[in-house]
Amino acid sequence: MQIGHYKLPSDCLALAPMAGVTDRQFRSLCRQLGADYVVTEMLSANPALRDTRKSRLREAFEGEPEPVAVQIAGSEPQWLADAARYNADRGAAIIDINMGCPAKKVCNKLAGSALLSDPHKVSEILAAVVAAVDIPVTLKIRTGPDPEQRNGVLIARLAEEAGVAALAVHGRTRADKFQGNAEYETIAQICQQVSIPVFANGDIETPQQAREVLQFTGAAGVMIGRAAQGNPWIFREIRHFLDTGDFLPPAPAGEIHAVMRQHLQELHEYYGDEAGVRVARKHIGWYLESRPGAQNYRTALMQAQQPEQQLGLLDDFFAGLPADAQCATDQNEHSPHRRAA
Ligand SMILES: Cc1cc2nc3c(=O)[nH]c(=O)nc-3n(C[C@H](O)[C@H](O)[C@H](O)COP(=O)(O)O)c2cc1C
Repeated sequence: MQIGHYKLPSDCLALAPMAGVTDRQFRSLCRQLGADYVVTEMLSANPALRDTRKSRLREAFEGEPEPVAVQIAGSEPQWLADAARYNADRGAAIIDINMGCPAKKVCNKLAGSALLSDPHKVSEILAAVVAAVDIPVTLKIRTGPDPEQRNGVLIARLAEEAGVAALAVHGRTRADKFQGNAEYETIAQICQQVSIPVFANGDIETPQQAREVLQFTGAAGVMIGRAAQGNPWIFREIRHFLDTGDFLPPAPAGEIHAVMRQHLQELHEYYGDEAGVRVARKHIGWYLESRPGAQNYRTALMQAQQPEQQLGLLDDFFAGLPADAQCATDQNEHSPHRRAA
């Protein structure tokens, strides 16, 4: 598949943008473990929020392997166009526009998925952003505002007309929030109706599901969000299954330890001791969520206040396991990663 001039593998495996999760460290880890394409956490298009510590930390995509898609969110066409230019000037390879997020913080300002109920506004935004930059612009949407108005096909057509280079579609409507199951019929219709590449997104948690969704929708790729939390290995597991039809064995304990250790150290370094330990807690919780015997360590790890303490407890946990133990949750058997946003 291709986004603008960027060539990506067919059956492309993308890491979904997740605010508070897909920071530079997690993006890099997922790439290392097989993600073909990554998107940053969303950045507000509001210029007043540009110079905050949070924005500065989220903007740190310079020097990452190309292409990194930088996601922007907002409702003012001019602000979005300015934000696109600003991020392009700072090295973004692709600009992604968020029209998929149902979060109140975003939707109250008629941004995110709330925009789907105003196709005219969608077109205005897309035209302004595409005209503002000479790098590819992509769009992330849901299937519509609510189950009675699944206008995803219309929005996808408007996007193609406006010059958008690729779409990601989460198979829920805005009103669904994260309830119920994602549906892929609308995504399949979108894939039939537009010729730009589409990523199918929503509830893909196993290699088999990835293959089924690719086959059912005809999408050019799948986008994985929650199932990658605490399980960045999912990308290489899916790729192996798509390529061979066989399942990779779960990552051995020694590898999980090494990956977690490196991830935690990078978080400590990037965010500083206090914030780094806090950000790391969230990831530790996900990594160890369903690992047998992890419960006691998990509680202690959540209470650790210093980086060294956190790393020491992690080492203690893994010291109790043989390095080749396959303690990873078997993603092929069940799906522990379904969780609310
Ligand atoms: C914690 C969290 C944060 C998210 N943040 C964003 C975001 O910043 N931008 C966006 O377009 N979608 C965001 N999403 C939605 C995901 O990109 C994705 O569409 C959704 O989780 C469905 O995919 P999944 O079932 O694979 O998780 C977020 C989801 C979660 C769980």
